[in-house]
Amino acid sequence: MHILRRRGWEISESRVTPESAMLGRRGLLKAAGVLSVAGALPALAEPNAKFVAGRALTDEKYATTYNNFYEFDETKSIWKEAQALKQRPWTIELAGLVKQPRTIGLDDLLKQVQTEERIYRHRCVETWAMTVPWSGFSLAQLLAIAEPLGSAKYVVFQSAADKAAMPGLRSPYYPWPYTEGLAIDEAANDLAFMVTGLYGKPVPPQNGGPLRIALPWKYGFKSAKSIVKISFTEKRPETFWEGLNPGEYGFWANVNPAVSHPRWSQAREKLLGSGEMVPTQIYNGYGDFVAGLYEGRKGEKLFM
Ligand code: MTE
Repeated sequence: MHILRRRGWEISESRVTPESAMLGRRGLLKAAGVLSVAGALPALAEPNAKFVAGRALTDEKYATTYNNFYEFDETKSIWKEAQALKQRPWTIELAGLVKQPRTIGLDDLLKQVQTEERIYRHRCVETWAMTVPWSGFSLAQLLAIAEPLGSAKYVVFQSAADKAAMPGLRSPYYPWPYTEGLAIDEAANDLAFMVTGLYGKPVPPQNGGPLRIALPWKYGFKSAKSIVKISFTEKRPETFWEGLNPGEYGFWANVNPAVSHPRWSQAREKLLGSGEMVPTQIYNGYGDFVAGLYEGRKGEKLFM
């Protein structure tokens, strides 16, 4: 297995240029004008060394051109079409069991949170995987802003459903809008990350811009893209894939190489770009952060 022992904040050789050696990454971004883009807080994010990649970074061109975003199409080649999804103005509705239901502008929200960069491994249920530098802020900070009531047990993320921009919404087969959810203690976990950036730039629409979630210990379908609404509920929500096919996709969907999908093994994964096959790890290798969440939940179908 090809493992690079790179610290979390280091960038891949492919992204290092002679110029960057002189300017440093931040200087380079500044020189490129990235830091001055309105709402481009991700570029200013501080890297967090707590989250170790353990693998080479996926080349940006693969991560941003091979995507799952069914609102555009069922194929992976949606990145061009996805540019039609306008990224500003963007608002997020905070609804359900919160102290004060309200709608907040993304740029206002970004002024209230501390941003950072994290390199996370991402494992799709279809067995492909990537390792990318997301930037954004912890979901825990958003919970503090939303102020859920004591009765709130689950958090539900709803993706945009913009019929003009997203042709896939015409398919009546799917229960639009795309929704995903977490138990509130999962949402408060350190790893749960609201993403506004990718590779030091605003996260592009095909990857769920301008706001998505990253939950690296769960299969990728749990990480809803282009989020417009966050609700708090007492009852466990029925989410998009679970509603569509509960025999194949569950609510918890934690990564586990020992629990096969009904139609394929989950023992190994294929790295985007290199095509290398590597063993899949329980909780995608993030058990130290999250295994404790499930100790009292042994009766649940935790792994699919
Ligand atoms: N969110 C929405 N709204 N629609 C989708 O189709 N696909 C999910 C998840 N979030 C999806 C979504 C799946 S299956 C995966 S693997 C990841 O997004 C893919 O994220 P990426 O394209 O940034 O790699």
